[in-house]
Amino acid sequence: MKDLAVRVENVTKSFRVYTDRNQSLKAALLAGRRAKYEDFLALDDVSLEIPRGTTFGLLGHNGSGKSTLLKTIARILTPDAGRITVDGRLAAMLEVGSGFHPNLSGRENVYLNGTILGMSRREIDAKFDSIVDFSGVERFIDQPVKNYSSGMYVRLGFAVSIHVEPEILLVDEVLAVGDLQFQEKCMEKFSEFKAAGRTVIVVSHAIDQMRTFCDQAAWLRNGKVIDVGDAMTIVDSYANAEHGVRRVESGGTRFGSGEARISSIEWLVDGADTRTTRTGDHVTLRLHYESDIEIPRPTFGASIDTRDGVFVWGHHSLDAGYVVESIRPGVGSVDIEIPALPLRPGTFDVSASLQDHAATHVYDALQKAVRVDVLHGTPTESGGVTTFGSTFTNVSPPRPLV
Ligand SMILES: Nc1ncnc2c1ncn2[C@@H]1O[C@H](COP(=O)(O)OP(=O)(O)OP(=O)(O)O)[C@@H](O)[C@H]1O
Ligand SMILES: [Mg+2]
Repeated sequence: MKDLAVRVENVTKSFRVYTDRNQSLKAALLAGRRAKYEDFLALDDVSLEIPRGTTFGLLGHNGSGKSTLLKTIARILTPDAGRITVDGRLAAMLEVGSGFHPNLSGRENVYLNGTILGMSRREIDAKFDSIVDFSGVERFIDQPVKNYSSGMYVRLGFAVSIHVEPEILLVDEVLAVGDLQFQEKCMEKFSEFKAAGRTVIVVSHAIDQMRTFCDQAAWLRNGKVIDVGDAMTIVDSYANAEHGVRRVESGGTRFGSGEARISSIEWLVDGADTRTTRTGDHVTLRLHYESDIEIPRPTFGASIDTRDGVFVWGHHSLDAGYVVESIRPGVGSVDIEIPALPLRPGTFDVSASLQDHAATHVYDALQKAVRVDVLHGTPTESGGVTTFGSTFTNVSPPRPLV
């Protein structure tokens, strides 16, 4: 255990799931018959070693067992089999408001929660102002927390957790709840933690953040560890594998009069339709259409949104000055060439449309039909959604202060 903060050995955890959906346990007992249930394996022989001082990410689809694993490490859940060894003071930020009592005030909860996490009353007294300050909820500190918004809950809970000064911090998807400013504050705190050689175990669906923020990661599927290793590699292979599932499920939504339709969208790199691409790729966006009618001078369009719905790019053939004489009943396609994809790593949704010549009548708008993961490529720039291909230059020699 010398260099390990946490060791998970062959841990199994199952939950009893009642299969008779309309039958509550009580109703089943009253009816004098057994409720039907199955044992559901949420963690299936999981083994992991988390080195001291690493920022360790857990990845996986909804229901893959990430939260269950964190809860067993935090000793909120007891494994059915296997062993967990934790070396160091641990604090956990799990579900929103876990460890908070709704009827108590923020102030009382700080004391209650701090005590549960192993702080003495005197320690909490000394840190109280700093906790409240970090949380930013001072105006509401004497109100019952049941009146708090989920963001306020998370802020206060997180503030307490980090003031415990844990050697090991578990964080489950809480950052998603706070606003941008709070997220940045947390990231700063995590960086301080990292620099101080502490261990952070974090669950997040923000895979781009995981890629840059974590040193190591594990990928869970159906309660099993699929892969463990350095975060960049694991995040990329997770993103890669995930697209296979998406493609089958892909459908998006559509609207329009429907006489002509966008039948599919291809994201072509080197001639192959893919859902994983890289910054700087030459991409051909191929829109396939099918039409029941003849349309003179149709307008084709496409757009890209971030997964959070931020509109990143859009273009249509009318603005491009590309005149398609007409389409006749039948099927066909049109290409949009993107010479060097200027998107940073992340997940994006692609939409396409088919309109009349003035772009006022919509035959079909197929929205978010294709989801692509952009992986690390060239150029590598530090933040945001796009790359500019920017360069640093012209640093001047120092001049004396005047
Ligand atoms: N208390 C419980 N009782 C019954 N089933 C549970 C319980 N807690 C979790 N499960 C089940 O165990 C599985 C794993 O759940 P878990 O919450 O660990 O997933 P997760 O990876 O954190 O998912 P998400 O990304 O949605 O947070 C799920 O199928 C879930 O329904
Ligand atoms: Mg979860």
